[in-house]
Amino acid sequence: MSNTGILSIDQGTTSSRAIVFALNGHQIANAQQEFTQHYPANGWVEHDVEEIWSTTLDSCKTVISQATNKGVDIACIGITNQRETTVVWNKDTGKAIHPAIVWQDRRTAGYCESIKDREAMVNSKTGLLLDPYFSASKIKWILDEVQGARRLAIKGKLAFGTIDSFLIWRLTNGKAHVTDATNASRTNLFNIHTQQWDEDLLTLFDIPPCILPEVLDCAAEFGTCDPSILGKDYRITGVAGDQQAALVGQSCFSPGDLKSTYGTGCFALLNTGDTPVSSSHKLLTTVGYRLNGKTTYALEGAIFTAGANIQWLRDGIGVLQHAKQSQVLAESLDYDHGVFLVPGFAGLGAPHWNPNARASLFGMTRATGPAHFARAALEAVCYQSHELQTAMRKDGVSSNNVWVDGGMVANDWLCQFLCDILQVEVQRPKIMESTALGAAFLAGLQAGIYESLDEISAVKTVDRVFIPELGDKTRQRLLKKWALAVKATLAFAE
Ligand code: G3P
Repeated sequence: MSNTGILSIDQGTTSSRAIVFALNGHQIANAQQEFTQHYPANGWVEHDVEEIWSTTLDSCKTVISQATNKGVDIACIGITNQRETTVVWNKDTGKAIHPAIVWQDRRTAGYCESIKDREAMVNSKTGLLLDPYFSASKIKWILDEVQGARRLAIKGKLAFGTIDSFLIWRLTNGKAHVTDATNASRTNLFNIHTQQWDEDLLTLFDIPPCILPEVLDCAAEFGTCDPSILGKDYRITGVAGDQQAALVGQSCFSPGDLKSTYGTGCFALLNTGDTPVSSSHKLLTTVGYRLNGKTTYALEGAIFTAGANIQWLRDGIGVLQHAKQSQVLAESLDYDHGVFLVPGFAGLGAPHWNPNARASLFGMTRATGPAHFARAALEAVCYQSHELQTAMRKDGVSSNNVWVDGGMVANDWLCQFLCDILQVEVQRPKIMESTALGAAFLAGLQAGIYESLDEISAVKTVDRVFIPELGDKTRQRLLKKWALAVKATLAFAE
């Protein structure tokens, strides 16, 4: 048993990675490949599906070989993924009929606006809003715009899936067309109360039911890998969308537990137990996880760019050479540096939900330089987290602490500023790869490696707890300026 590992595939927005975890959560092998982001038009974001596949496959092969060399036996596979991103493929060829339309893509903003009068119905069934973020309007766009697609779909020749579903299709060589309840709950087509695809929603978005995957629990038998692909018939036994996987990876199993993941975007999920709490402040009600047919719900605040702000400074405008530089640069300024970035690069998510908003910078002088950009980009994520915290409190749910994870939280300065702005303890676990770990836990549950959620919780250890330090006067001053910057950004949006 001690030489057993679980392979976790984490197919994210900017990179595909694979990690083999030991049962105590330690990493045995880790491989990651970034891939190309395509921006074919204003507000559009696409991924090449074959690049997603090849980077995932390469990462898996690398870690399988590393683990094998260390004498580790891989017991099962867990998959976690960027959510909502939409793939439609031909069942006969396995090839996508259009590049993946990424969750950040705003091309269907006009369409969503045109059916806005149906938002209350959509929200009551799905817990979501009518926004281009979710999969349904993206599927409709592909079926309408790709020549012959709708005809093929009706004939049963096409399959839709979020990335988990597509990867499982490929890994099983076309034998399984499945997804899990968390990914399904992000499509705008899944009724989170009945836990089924919803006929009214399929009619609204004009989507033929035959293209949809079967929805399973998060710990289930998703399929067996074809040996020609990874060299063995590994069982795929755990799946969850990346934010829900992080909820599991952080062992947020009790109502009131809150985690916030700072990856490409930032997503705060608060466990609300078996009650789907409906928000009056534009938060999302979503499936936290579903195990043994029992759904645990979460209230979610979604911020569309977090690490992506830093990536833009590095790759977009060359202000940074490395993402890590941002901490030193941010630390070099004091609180009154005066620059604010409202990062509406992909519109603004919760609690504003304006797909037409675009990023804006305020307060620059001739002295403004890379340090200001870096600091404003990091601070923005904290101010936005505060907006989510405020919305949750107004909805009557809150937490006295927040568990953080994701690439950005290695930055101590960011964690301290976040804590100062939120005025609650920020707890950082030792294993910061909560997303991948969550998928491994789910796979391990199904495979009988872990017997209970209690056993999983025992794996967690705290790295550091951040305690609020900033005086309230400064904090209030900064929050006031931030609110003004957001207001101006929204006013500027078309
Ligand atoms: O909903 C989008 C989310 O799943 C993307 O996550 O980790 O790529 O920021 P990430």
